[in-house]
Amino acid sequence: MPSLAAPEAPSRTARITPAAIRARKFTGPRLAALTAYDYPTARLLDEAGVDLILVGDSVGMVVLGHPDTTHVTMADMVHHTRIAARGVERALVIGDLPYRSYETPAQAVENARRLIDCGAQAVKLEGGVAMRRQIEAITQAGIPLVGHIGMLPQHVLEEGGYKRKGKDEAGIQALLADGRAVEEAGAFAVVLEIVDPPAAARVTAALEIPTIGISSGLDVCDGEILVTHDLAGLFPWFTPKFVRQEAQLGRELRAAAERYVARTREVLVSPPAGR
Ligand code: KIV
Repeated sequence: MPSLAAPEAPSRTARITPAAIRARKFTGPRLAALTAYDYPTARLLDEAGVDLILVGDSVGMVVLGHPDTTHVTMADMVHHTRIAARGVERALVIGDLPYRSYETPAQAVENARRLIDCGAQAVKLEGGVAMRRQIEAITQAGIPLVGHIGMLPQHVLEEGGYKRKGKDEAGIQALLADGRAVEEAGAFAVVLEIVDPPAAARVTAALEIPTIGISSGLDVCDGEILVTHDLAGLFPWFTPKFVRQEAQLGRELRAAAERYVARTREVLVSPPAGR
């Protein structure tokens, strides 16, 4: 866990490296990560001092209008990674490997390279023990990787919902095995999604790499990640219960558009001459 000593402020100019992210496990401050899928959002988050910007496959739900992330393709991720990465100078950009894009080690490396070629400095994929060979292949190819264990959204259809993980000792042992597999295979950090906080604390204590939680307890992981649309109220039709919103940008945009519609309609149109 990060130490309580006041850390040095992160540099605002140099690119944050995977090694620097890894070191924050022991030095702090806690890692602040958010998602971005386009140039202006990525640039704003970078200017705000976010450490890690994930071009997540959550783009499928909050931008592309799909019901879950299983519809997201490599073509979608290539497009969004390229435009988001263009806006970032300092934060570490992670490209997310979408559903069925890493079924074999060779496919995983090929698609990871495509996201790196779009400007990402690292990639992320879902799965622990079952993905060890894919993670090893990617990291041995020299591509930095963030793991993702706990609830795996790309498996939501098989699982029948977004179910919390690590609620009993068997679940905790499975998470510990997944975390160790990801770490041994060469990941420099790991996302813990919808993990019971006591289980997240055990995994965080057991690993040398930082854990980045989402709905896994605010104070037990080495960092936090949120979908920016949830944080900023940009997808006002649904906000997960665990999210503490900092703005209601969707509501503001709708109100701005309503004012624009009203002000446009107020201007009287003069009929063309001769009518
Ligand atoms: O795609 C995504 O946004 C993610 C985060 C929720 C971790 O994987």
